[in-house]
Amino acid sequence: MPALVLLGAQWGDEGKGKATDLLGGSVDYVVRYQGGNNAGHTVVVGDQKYALHLLPSGILSPGCTPVIGNGVVVDPSVLLSELSGLNERGVDTSKLLISGNAHIITPYNVTVDKVTERFLGKRKIGTTGRGIGPTYADKINRVGIRVQDLYDESILTQKVEAALDVKNQVLTKLYNRRAIAVGQVVEELLGYAAQIEPYVADTVLVLNQALDNDKVVLFEGGQGTLLDIDHGTYPFVTSSNPTAGGACTGAGVGPTKISRVIGILKAYTTRVGAGPFPTELFDEDGEALRRIGGERGVTTGRDRRCGWFDAVIARYATRVNGLTDFFLTKLDVLTGWEQIPVCVAYEIDGKRVEELPYSQSDFHHAKPVYETLPGWSEDITKAKSFSDLPKNAQNYVKALEDMSGAPISAIGVGPGRDETIEINSFL
Ligand code: GDP
Ligand code: IMO
Ligand code: MG
Repeated sequence: MPALVLLGAQWGDEGKGKATDLLGGSVDYVVRYQGGNNAGHTVVVGDQKYALHLLPSGILSPGCTPVIGNGVVVDPSVLLSELSGLNERGVDTSKLLISGNAHIITPYNVTVDKVTERFLGKRKIGTTGRGIGPTYADKINRVGIRVQDLYDESILTQKVEAALDVKNQVLTKLYNRRAIAVGQVVEELLGYAAQIEPYVADTVLVLNQALDNDKVVLFEGGQGTLLDIDHGTYPFVTSSNPTAGGACTGAGVGPTKISRVIGILKAYTTRVGAGPFPTELFDEDGEALRRIGGERGVTTGRDRRCGWFDAVIARYATRVNGLTDFFLTKLDVLTGWEQIPVCVAYEIDGKRVEELPYSQSDFHHAKPVYETLPGWSEDITKAKSFSDLPKNAQNYVKALEDMSGAPISAIGVGPGRDETIEINSFL
């Protein structure tokens, strides 16, 4: 039962798309289990670059069946435009399966996301504005719309009515916005139904049968561990569970089926949106990481905040996900620094702390304690094996591995599929 989970070990944008695509050729199913089109996963194949938001990165591997699990929130207009965009580029998307239990991001969820952020003012989360939080809120409040509801007009109408009942009061009386008409929303959603219908399936059954038949299933996380609603830097998080447990609930596969959990780990740290970030740099080094690493959001185009590697966070990711491996990405970006600081612990109110504090106030006060490792200047983008790396790059990787609590089984030295050093096989 070879089921693998591949997830972000930091605050997202670690290179999950590239890693998933790399494995895509050897797996039978790639499954998104949470999040929605807040994700931006970049895949580079030869001279072609793809930015995937809602679709699993396995969609670019012809032998692989891409699956959108029940835990994902689906914006139907984004889904259809992403599919047609890929079709225009010659990618066959006909194998896609979408859970009938996945929740729909409705136009009013997007509106609520935007007005809520505006209302929060300087306390805002810095969401992607894609309606993610409000859609998950509706799901938990039991007033959500699911993919299967698109195929029963009467139920759909009743559910949209129920959802808008309270929302319209809030929109008009609190936020000073116009009320949203039930009929208009229902009409828009029904307009997508026929185009989506061929993809809708009982994905829980499909995936469990696949595992029973020894097929290889890869669960591709969106966002990252520190953006997890339970285990991240709440409230500066997303509204789902990118951590490993989310793969089980978000796809309907039991934890006993998961054989490997791979944490994608950037060789430094980035974050988009608001919230604490102990190793964030506000100097020329931060600028250089942003420039050399191309650290600009795939979904929103925002500059990413950049900082040094944080081993406290990596250890935390190992623990809450039960990581079996790391895939270290973007090591090439660090080429050229004479010395590379790595955060090994925090200082909080004068005390050295080795592990991530559960207290939000403590984390906000955490100051990084750095150890400095010697850098390298040789180009590493052509390295094919660990021994091809300069000694100092090898030592940097080994030091990160020792601090982070799980073996580094692959290293990214460039954005392309083949710009990867494989140390231990994932399959
Ligand atoms: P994701 O959201 O985790 O899939 O990551 P993003 O696609 O948002 O951001 C990662 C960026 O780094 C993308 O532009 C990738 O093409 C790029 N990338 C991934 N791995 C590597 C690597 O090892 N080296 C370099 N230089 N770029 C990489
Ligand atoms: P991938 O999958 C980085 C961040 C947003 C914001 C917070 C909440 O590409 O790694 P949301 O719209 O989800 O309610 O926003 O989460 N965020 C991401 N940051 N990478 C992502 O996805 C993200 N998806 C959401 O910037 O801080
Ligand atoms: Mg991304």
